Amino acid sequence: MCIRKHSDMRFLLAIISVLCLQICVHSQDDYCFGKDTERPQTRHFTSKTAYQIIKGTNMEKEYLVPGCKATKIWILHRHGTRLPTVSTIKAAPRLEILRDEIVKNYRVRRTKPDTNALCLEDLTLLSMWKWNASITIDQEQFLTAQGYEDLKGTAKTYQRLYGDVLNKNYNNSHYKFRHTDTQRTTESFKAFVEGLFGVNNTVQPDPIPEEDLLLRPYDYCESWKAHDYSGINSESYKFKHSAVWNKTIEEISKRLGFQYPLESSDVELMWDMCRYEQAWQVDRISAWCAVLTSEQVTILEYEDDMKYYYKLGYGYEENTRLNCRAAQDMLTHLNSETTPNVVAYFAHTSGVQTLLAALGIAKDNTPLTAANYNRSDYKWRTSNLDPFASNFIAVKYECNDNMPDKAIFFLNQNAVEFDWCDGSLCDWPEVLKQYQLLYTADCSNFYCAGASAVSIVTSLSLLLFCTSIILRLMY
Ligand SMILES: *[C@@H]1O[C@H](CO)[C@@H](O)[C@H](O)[C@H]1NC(C)=O
Ligand SMILES: *[C@@H]1O[C@H](CO)[C@@H](O)[C@H](O)[C@H]1NC(C)=O
Ligand SMILES: *[C@@H]1O[C@H](CO)[C@@H](O)[C@H](O)[C@H]1NC(C)=O
Ligand SMILES: *[C@@H]1O[C@H](CO)[C@@H](O)[C@H](O)[C@H]1NC(C)=O
Ligand SMILES: *[C@@H]1O[C@H](CO)[C@@H](O)[C@H](O)[C@H]1NC(C)=O
Repeated sequence: MCIRKHSDMRFLLAIISVLCLQICVHSQDDYCFGKDTERPQTRHFTSKTAYQIIKGTNMEKEYLVPGCKATKIWILHRHGTRLPTVSTIKAAPRLEILRDEIVKNYRVRRTKPDTNALCLEDLTLLSMWKWNASITIDQEQFLTAQGYEDLKGTAKTYQRLYGDVLNKNYNNSHYKFRHTDTQRTTESFKAFVEGLFGVNNTVQPDPIPEEDLLLRPYDYCESWKAHDYSGINSESYKFKHSAVWNKTIEEISKRLGFQYPLESSDVELMWDMCRYEQAWQVDRISAWCAVLTSEQVTILEYEDDMKYYYKLGYGYEENTRLNCRAAQDMLTHLNSETTPNVVAYFAHTSGVQTLLAALGIAKDNTPLTAANYNRSDYKWRTSNLDPFASNFIAVKYECNDNMPDKAIFFLNQNAVEFDWCDGSLCDWPEVLKQYQLLYTADCSNFYCAGASAVSIVTSLSLLLFCTSIILRLMY
């Protein structure tokens, strides 16, 4: 009896230890997004990255220039965190189907992978996920509550540092504001001025012109609209039809318990929901972020960065000229001795990225291509350049003791360094010299290949017209 009891006990102990070992080994292996305190992948969500994660923290040390005083500020601000586009809102209910399939894979079909599975916490969170059906297509791309906070926050930060220029007493000669014709930029403008002047301010933005060539030049350039950054000949397309991409989709699918690869579009939908939810509520955990590991996010990030690189960045030469007007507006504003002292525009990704391309910021020596995806050192990382609420601010300083005027440029609260400046502190005459072409260009011809083609046609016909008149006068 005694002996039997003893062996029973040992048997039980053995079972317990095997179970425990399994649990321990598994919980060691299975990455838990929900329990990760760092969550480094949230810094790689391209243009849907939360501003708070990306914004610089060194501005306090960078903005003071001894012997100089900030006098003029120019701001191009992307809208804050927004709701999805129509197509994503329409597709979102599909995520409830995918959610149920994943849960079934793990709990019913038992096709959970042996290693690198979702951890229990992440699976539980996913099983409880619901699409917020109050988000309807009539609210597509509306600014969210967090988006409002994003802009109120930047306004307060910049006012704290540059209180003399961004002072609390609004008047319409010192300040000039404008936004594009969308809900999200209108609300972003309101949030920003609320941050500067309080809730009951009376700020009137400048009217939006019929053709918004300054803030939406891309709407009026046919050659730009026609250029292909994601079609069959693009690097993005090549990448999405490569072995690396396939392997990533297969790994993601396998991790979720699918025995066949999911459609790329399903994986991208999951990533979209992850990025939106993570930006709407930065301190909460989006269940959809847990379905992707850091390495997998890197692949999705590279594909998106490449798309932007060719759509708005250095991958297409015309992009460096598209935002001629905004770049020129900035240079002219900072150079002028007259009011307004503050100019602030509220616009979009396309505006911010093409401005960076115009100014030669974050330029890679070698282009981003499908073949060289595994480089980790590229500069055109839209997560850093253009998260939600991304903003470019140019500050002009007047200096004493025969020092030349200075300028510092901040992107998302990080001082931008140029090799022709002393780090990030630039001499104003040097700025004008570097950007001479943009400063003096006739933007209506320069900004768009189509536009200059039109104007060549116009000048040719003008020439013919004049010639015919001269000929008529002669005979
Ligand atoms: C769902 O969306 C609506 C509309 O955008 C929003 O007001 C509400 O706060 C959201 N609910 C949750 C639980 O996030
Ligand atoms: C507008 O505000 C600026 C800065 O506070 C001030 O210097 C200027 O005198 C004001 N102008 C008018 C017309 O009130
Ligand atoms: C703003 O105006 C509203 C309505 O006039 C008033 O109730 C509120 O107290 C004001 N808020 C501030 C901060 O002045
Ligand atoms: C990627 O997967 C698709 C569909 O499964 C397949 O047609 C294609 O040949 C694969 N491409 C490569 C390069 O492996
Ligand atoms: C990138 O991939 C290529 C081809 O797969 C390989 O030859 C190269 O060593 C890789 N580079 C890095 C930095 O991993």
